[in-house]
Amino acid sequence: MSGTSLDGADAAVVDFSGPAPRTLAFASIAYPQVLRDRLMALSHDGSDSLEVAGRVSLELADLYAAVVDEALRQAGVSRSQVKGVGVHGQTVRHRPAEGFTIQLNDPARVAERCGIDVVADFRRRDMAAGGQGAPLVPAFHDAVFRDPRRARAVVNIGGIGNITWLAPGRATVGFDCGPGNVLMDAWAERHLDARFDEDGKWAASGRVDNEFLGRLLSEPYLGEAPPKSTGRELFRKDWLEPLLPSQARAQDVQATLAEFTARTIVEAIDRFCPGTEEIYLAGGGARNVHLVARIGDLAKGRPVAPTDALGVPTQHVEAVAFAWLAMKCLAREPIDMAAVTGAKGPRILGAIYPA
Ligand SMILES: Nc1ncnc2c1ncn2[C@@H]1O[C@H](COP(=O)(O)OP(=O)(O)O)[C@@H](O)[C@H]1O
Ligand SMILES: [Mg+2]
Repeated sequence: MSGTSLDGADAAVVDFSGPAPRTLAFASIAYPQVLRDRLMALSHDGSDSLEVAGRVSLELADLYAAVVDEALRQAGVSRSQVKGVGVHGQTVRHRPAEGFTIQLNDPARVAERCGIDVVADFRRRDMAAGGQGAPLVPAFHDAVFRDPRRARAVVNIGGIGNITWLAPGRATVGFDCGPGNVLMDAWAERHLDARFDEDGKWAASGRVDNEFLGRLLSEPYLGEAPPKSTGRELFRKDWLEPLLPSQARAQDVQATLAEFTARTIVEAIDRFCPGTEEIYLAGGGARNVHLVARIGDLAKGRPVAPTDALGVPTQHVEAVAFAWLAMKCLAREPIDMAAVTGAKGPRILGAIYPA
């Protein structure tokens, strides 16, 4: 799995033979800076280059194969014991309104290098069936994080934030609620020369600018009802720039971006996930101590806990989810994303590249 944050690729080796998925190993490989810069450039309009996309796809495929190797080595599991590898690819364009989404990858090359069946291209069939193509992880949350009595919200804080609402007797709802780490990462990169604000310490040192916060919160996407999905094409530099205060300390901007992220998450739960009694957090943002504390304060007494409490560590959830989605595809099991993405009905998601 490699998400919008462009931090790197994660791999989980998962055994689904028992009642609950069991992660045997988890590995990560960070993107080299040059690859990250190229992906960042491809994610924005006007920088298109088929040449760069082609080369980057090969580089990604090799990195994906390497992280699979590393996870298998850690797990002590041989290739022949693995049914399939789910490889998400790197999203560089996501345009649900126009009906397309592009994940760079070369799944044939991953299959060649790994010698294991590869499942890739999970999103396009959902879009072809009229869906948003995202988020897909709610299907996995539904399968493993549901409680028969208590309404739960599971929040994945990656580059973009997405929420899954699991309420007893109700269809699972899931949607992208807004930025996860993208804005905070961009600001940290600009002022700290770091890829992110570790543990949110820098944000915690600043003060929230309420006028600026108000401008951020007036983004119309936040009020739109699900199904909805978004990406770097909305929450990007050109979006933030005109909203910035004319004079401000950089740490106060970071504090406000963190507050904005926390507010969009809790307000989306209040608006679109009525009756939520418990909130669970996953993704890289769950390691941002300051952000998690702010979500806790805004949650009005509801418990906020990492998904570790539900048996899957926060950093593993997305990689395990794509292993699960690959398993469903290989079994030719359709997944009903209608209530999440707005797809017309159950579809088999993914394309298979045999070993
Ligand atoms: N210790 C930490 N403190 C603050 N933020 C963190 C920390 N560790 C990871 N992150 C954030 O998590 C992001 C990566 O999260 P991830 O779930 O992999 O997102 P994606 O799915 O978009 O790749 C990083 O870009 C960073 O913003
Ligand atoms: Mg990541």
